[in-house]
Amino acid sequence: MRPIAPQPTDAESDRPPAPGPHGPQAPHPDSVDLTDPLTFTRPELRAMWARFRAESPVHRHRATPGAPPFWVLSRHADVVAVYRDDKRFTSERGNVLATLLQGEDSASGKMLAVTDGPRHREIRNLMLKSFSPRVLAPVVEGVNRRTVALLDEALERGAFDFVVDLADHIPINTIGDLMGVPVADREQLVHWNTMTLSRTSAEHGAEEEWLARNEILLYFSELAAKRRRDPGEDVISALATGTVDGRPLTEDEIVFNCYSLILGGDESSRMSSVGAVIALAEHPDQWKALKEGLVDTATATEEVLRWTTPAMHFGRRALTDVEIRGRTIASGDVVTLWNSSANFDEEVFADPERFDLARTPNKHVAFGHGPHFCIGAFLGRTHVEAMLRALRDKAGHLELLGRPRLLHSNFVYGYTSLPVRIDRPAASGTSGISPVSAPP
Ligand code: HEM
Repeated sequence: MRPIAPQPTDAESDRPPAPGPHGPQAPHPDSVDLTDPLTFTRPELRAMWARFRAESPVHRHRATPGAPPFWVLSRHADVVAVYRDDKRFTSERGNVLATLLQGEDSASGKMLAVTDGPRHREIRNLMLKSFSPRVLAPVVEGVNRRTVALLDEALERGAFDFVVDLADHIPINTIGDLMGVPVADREQLVHWNTMTLSRTSAEHGAEEEWLARNEILLYFSELAAKRRRDPGEDVISALATGTVDGRPLTEDEIVFNCYSLILGGDESSRMSSVGAVIALAEHPDQWKALKEGLVDTATATEEVLRWTTPAMHFGRRALTDVEIRGRTIASGDVVTLWNSSANFDEEVFADPERFDLARTPNKHVAFGHGPHFCIGAFLGRTHVEAMLRALRDKAGHLELLGRPRLLHSNFVYGYTSLPVRIDRPAASGTSGISPVSAPP
């Protein structure tokens, strides 16, 4: 996922309890402020989306201080239709609320996610060479190895923070392998990433964020120059040495796409693994099914991605007047597509509020759809599946020890902290399954 906007901080918000049914506690769509990250810490979030789908599936969000009105699509069919339609809806003026509401994205026409048409296809095809199964094989091997090693280490301690001690360390190394970033530089990159992503945190000011972003861009500019002289099979080499119609990519195109990968590849993959642990702890029957091998991990991975939907929304700007469900979206309007609602649409998913690892079919839109479908989807899936397999094979008792801490964001749904206790299966264990308790 490409993270330009609403940036997470370490806000002290608590994760909502398990979703309730669509009931009277759900706020009326007119009263909801989707620009405010606090909205996404509400306990009735799922019920809120059910109400949007039922009562105002093509909703005109009111103007809020500093933000013009925009459209909110919450039904699966509408979200998919707009994702698919890059003729009438463009990504070039932003693809997340923050940039869309500003009216522009500085990487427009250069970075994959905010480029449309033939240039998008050309850059994407160039990058796809580094995402082929052959090139990715050692990267995938690294994900599996690191996941097992980190879980083993954590199991020695029993009680630990699943985000800080485990999940935080895996995807950055995956993306590092994919891009051929020297291991010695990765810690520094994580530090810059954190500074860049923590824009709204009280700890870091806008200036620090700007400096960190420039450090990342400069770092990749230098690395790209090295790869031009001495290319490998990594994605930076592909960007730095590739040509389109005989012409190399511009410096901006190379550097912005590196920036997008290092930031985008990290955050959402981490978040779905963390969400998987919470979901398993809260659904002991599903944990038992996984442990006993009653569900296959590839199928289970899709349900974890649907259930966690780390990228809550993406968006587009209309290039022409478009009618959806009798409402007219005018040319120039901002349209937001809520994956976190579409993935629970009762018209597409039977009993959507049930966490069912064996769910098939599972047509979730966690990775988007259409021309901008996530280029890292295979790697995102690899992370989740590696974690599910490692937990199945190594863990017995699984317990949440305290309140998970939510990111402060209207874009990424995820956590900055998750205290857990995970033990090895009891020695005598038949299935090795122990009682699972929810947080206080
Ligand atoms: C695009 C989600 C992992 C890189 C997207 C989009 C979504 C998404 C929803 C569509 C954006 C749009 O339509 O505007 C996710 C999730 C992930 C994940 C949920 C993990 C669970 C990754 C990884 C990488 C990555 C691991 C890098 C290796 C990208 C890029 C795009 C993208 C470059 C833009 C593709 C294009 O415009 O053609 N992602 N992503 N993502 N993602 Fe991911």
